[in-house]
Amino acid sequence: MNKILLIGCGHMGSALLQAWLLQKNIYFYVVDPINYKKINKKKYNKVKAYKSLLDIKDISSIDIVIFAIKPQIIQEVLKEVSFFNFNKKTIFVSIVAGIQMSLFNKFLKKNNQFIRVMPNMPALVNKGMSCLVANKTITTKNKNKINSLFLKVGKTLWLKKEKDINIVTAISGSGPGYIFLLVDAFEKAALKLGLNEKDSKELVYQTFFGSIELLLKNNSSALKLAKNIAVSGGTTEAAFKIFLDKKILHKTFERAISAAYTKSIKLSK
Ligand SMILES: NC(=O)c1ccc[n+]([C@@H]2O[C@H](COP(=O)([O-])OP(=O)(O)OC[C@H]3O[C@@H](n4cnc5c(N)ncnc54)[C@H](OP(=O)(O)O)[C@@H]3O)[C@@H](O)[C@H]2O)c1
Repeated sequence: MNKILLIGCGHMGSALLQAWLLQKNIYFYVVDPINYKKINKKKYNKVKAYKSLLDIKDISSIDIVIFAIKPQIIQEVLKEVSFFNFNKKTIFVSIVAGIQMSLFNKFLKKNNQFIRVMPNMPALVNKGMSCLVANKTITTKNKNKINSLFLKVGKTLWLKKEKDINIVTAISGSGPGYIFLLVDAFEKAALKLGLNEKDSKELVYQTFFGSIELLLKNNSSALKLAKNIAVSGGTTEAAFKIFLDKKILHKTFERAISAAYTKSIKLSK
């Protein structure tokens, strides 16, 4: 039986918890000062939620600690964590954006086993993308253990260097936000042409869903598939004249993603 302590159970923490609850042989402790009551009311048989770490009696028996709190309160939480005697073998995992391992090292015991993860929101439907980077102390067995946990919520990718977390934060971490914004723009354009809300949604969602499925099953690149649809003199080509004029779409993406990357670096300093 593995015991996992989840510190923070908001959007991302609860998405992970929901997926992991289906696993056998895992028992969950959750610490979340407000949400803990709501979680206990659900009466999951493998979860006990607490207001504070102080309420947990057998902290030394915990195998994995996962930090899923906002970056703004990490120092405060780490100070608290440093007062507790975790097992030497405990694996620490952080999904907190922009917080480097070096900060955790200031508060955790020497030679701690640590993994930083950048998951994303589609973990909620087990279609997430999690990028991971480990410290040197971690054993292969423990790396595999954390990898298989995140495989339960989608795909995983291991990074060699911690600083690459800043890149993947701007791509897959924030990415679902960009996609939702694109869907919104697409829907609003459909409404403007006169479709009703229900039909706009159905057409746009199915178009995104079907196109991605096709891309995944096809050996061609996205650009090749795009060009296949945009036959000369056709409707898609008319739209492409706007999208590709002065590379406006590609340049907008480049600028926006570069802003997210710069912000990620800034947050990590
Ligand atoms: N959301 C994403 O798509 C995403 C993607 C990748 C990584 N992340 C990272 O995941 C982390 C969590 O994000 P989120 O979106 O899940 O944020 P969130 O919804 O705000 O969740 C954080 C949770 O921690 C609780 N909390 C506050 N103080 C606490 C304490 N002292 N001890 C334990 N729990 C405490 C919060 O409670 P209150 O709300 O009552 O304060 C909230 O329930 C962030 O660091 C973020 O960078 C998020």
